[in-house]
Amino acid sequence: MLSEFLDTSDEWITTRTGIKTRHILTDERFEDLATEASARAIEAAGLCPDDIDYIICSNVSNYYVTPHLASIIQGGLGIKGPNCPTMDINVACVGFVYGLDICDALLATGRAHNILLVAAEECTRFCDWTDRNCSVLFGDGAGAVVLTQGDNLLARHMTSTPMRDVIVYRNPMEPTPFETGEGIDTHHALEMKGREVFRMAVTSASRDISQVVADAGLTFDDIDYFLLHQANLRINEAIRENLKQPEEKFPTNVQRFGNTSSAAIPLLLDEGVREGRIKRGDLLLMSAFGAGFVTGTAIVRY
Ligand code: ACO
Repeated sequence: MLSEFLDTSDEWITTRTGIKTRHILTDERFEDLATEASARAIEAAGLCPDDIDYIICSNVSNYYVTPHLASIIQGGLGIKGPNCPTMDINVACVGFVYGLDICDALLATGRAHNILLVAAEECTRFCDWTDRNCSVLFGDGAGAVVLTQGDNLLARHMTSTPMRDVIVYRNPMEPTPFETGEGIDTHHALEMKGREVFRMAVTSASRDISQVVADAGLTFDDIDYFLLHQANLRINEAIRENLKQPEEKFPTNVQRFGNTSSAAIPLLLDEGVREGRIKRGDLLLMSAFGAGFVTGTAIVRY
């Protein structure tokens, strides 16, 4: 389908990225996808929406700068408030792991008891669909979890290194009557230096995973599953080879969903749990990289 309007081929996309299909929102609403994922997570936790006392939403895709998506989801779930604070975080693809870190702090201090953490992305809206470098990589998706007392992280490592130009997407901007317009870039499509991101992703994930596992007093063999950001199968394969761990400990779904940014890890988690592969008590290591350049790695016992 893509090769009908782009100078690309199924063979190129498959061998360079591993991606075979991706899901693209058409007439559905992005916020409905986010709300549905949230409702399913609350149901899976055996709770009802009114039990939720904090909502954190990771996304870079909300149609509104304000109101934030977490409050729209709150409305969609029928939670009237006002005693359920909501907020969005934008840490690009690492939002879910940064979100876990924030939830960990809220739970540890007793300021929240049942937190809905949702990641929802409509990446395909950022693409210039005439640019084969980016548009073949992305898909849309949403995933959510409920975290409760006791769901604390065993170890985590979050990083941020200012690199403005490796992955860039600009907010729409028009000059005001007080400016000449000089210096305002009105280009509205995602741009990235793919090869550079590839190298940084493999190096930083291999480093961060080793550190977090050591911080938790564990070895790689103790980890049941490595849930890595799903950007490119070759990136994950290179990380796996560095860690010298078996393939079955690295579930993937980039083949079917493409890169869904911060939704990728909760989608993997959800599939693993619903298919019965991930079981209560398993040690899960989650690791992601993304625009910033940021990385986040955490270990949680499911
Ligand atoms: N179809 C056909 N040819 C293509 C395509 C395409 N879709 N895209 C690029 N090419 C061509 C290039 O033009 C280049 O041609 P040339 O050799 O004549 O110059 C050739 O293929 C090789 O290009 P490379 O960039 O070297 O290909 P590479 O193997 O590095 O794969 C890719 C490119 C897939 C982008 C890879 O670098 C990658 O996955 N990088 C990481 C991207 C990423 O993770 N981004 C994160 C985004 S942020 C977030 O997650 C939200």
